[in-house]
Amino acid sequence: MEIKEIVKEKYGQAALRVTTGGSSCCGASATVKGCGVDPITSHLYDANQTGQIPEEAVVASLGCGNPTALAQLNPGEVVLDLGSGGGIDVLLSAKRVGPTGKAYGLDMTDEMLALARENQRKSGLLNVEFLKGEIENIPLPDNSVDVIISNCVINLSGDKDRVLQEAFRVLKPGGRFAVSDVVVRGTVPDEVKRSMLLWVGCIAGALQDEQYVSKLAKSGFDQIDIEPTRVYEFADASEFLASAGLDSAVLAEQVSGRVLSAFVRASKPI
Ligand SMILES: C[S@@+](CC[C@H](N)C(=O)[O-])C[C@H]1O[C@@H](n2cnc3c(N)ncnc32)[C@H](O)[C@@H]1O
Repeated sequence: MEIKEIVKEKYGQAALRVTTGGSSCCGASATVKGCGVDPITSHLYDANQTGQIPEEAVVASLGCGNPTALAQLNPGEVVLDLGSGGGIDVLLSAKRVGPTGKAYGLDMTDEMLALARENQRKSGLLNVEFLKGEIENIPLPDNSVDVIISNCVINLSGDKDRVLQEAFRVLKPGGRFAVSDVVVRGTVPDEVKRSMLLWVGCIAGALQDEQYVSKLAKSGFDQIDIEPTRVYEFADASEFLASAGLDSAVLAEQVSGRVLSAFVRASKPI
């Protein structure tokens, strides 16, 4: 519960920063000099994609990958974005599935929902709906979604088994799980895991790649694959650690190369 409240507060503040003309940067990097070059969240979308949606949705982007670039989305399909933030991936998905399809965004933070709905209004897209709720209790019926996307959110949940079970429940048979997330290769020091600040910055809550695979399989998914999209190195890690007040010199070496953004795919069997 405590984690959820901290996450809500941090992302509420991030949404308000965008609304008042700032940048959305938050999490571990929020305490680092303006956080303009966040190694996790920057340079994820190409100009072709960002040109299609309101600028505020781009500025609010806090993901760690680009699920809409990697997921297969077909006209007429129903897409659900877990932890949709300012709505960037929902709006891009809505364009891909077209007027006969639908894109849902789900988020628990009121300020993010307000920002996302305003971005939808500016986009003029009608096949979009932002839902308030938690990814551990998805407010949609069983077998109702073709594709689940998510961008740097599942790592923030304190109950990942429950999130994956819920994702499985709402997907139609044959439905696809296509998620960008931070994962850890090998082990990360306990000191890092304990840091709430790093949790909010996506790292401390990240699953080990092997754990992710086994949790997906336990929830019923098959065709599971984890594809690294960015591997964070020593310099990136030392910035994260220093921003959380940890001894960066010692810990960065242990974290370097073990924290990565990855695209996680799986399917619900037919
Ligand atoms: C790192 S941001 C990512 C936002 C968006 N996916 C993007 O790429 O910009 C995390 C978002 O997930 C939401 N979130 C985190 N944990 C959640 C939960 N358990 N249930 C619903 N939303 C959650 C936060 O409110 C925040 O908007």
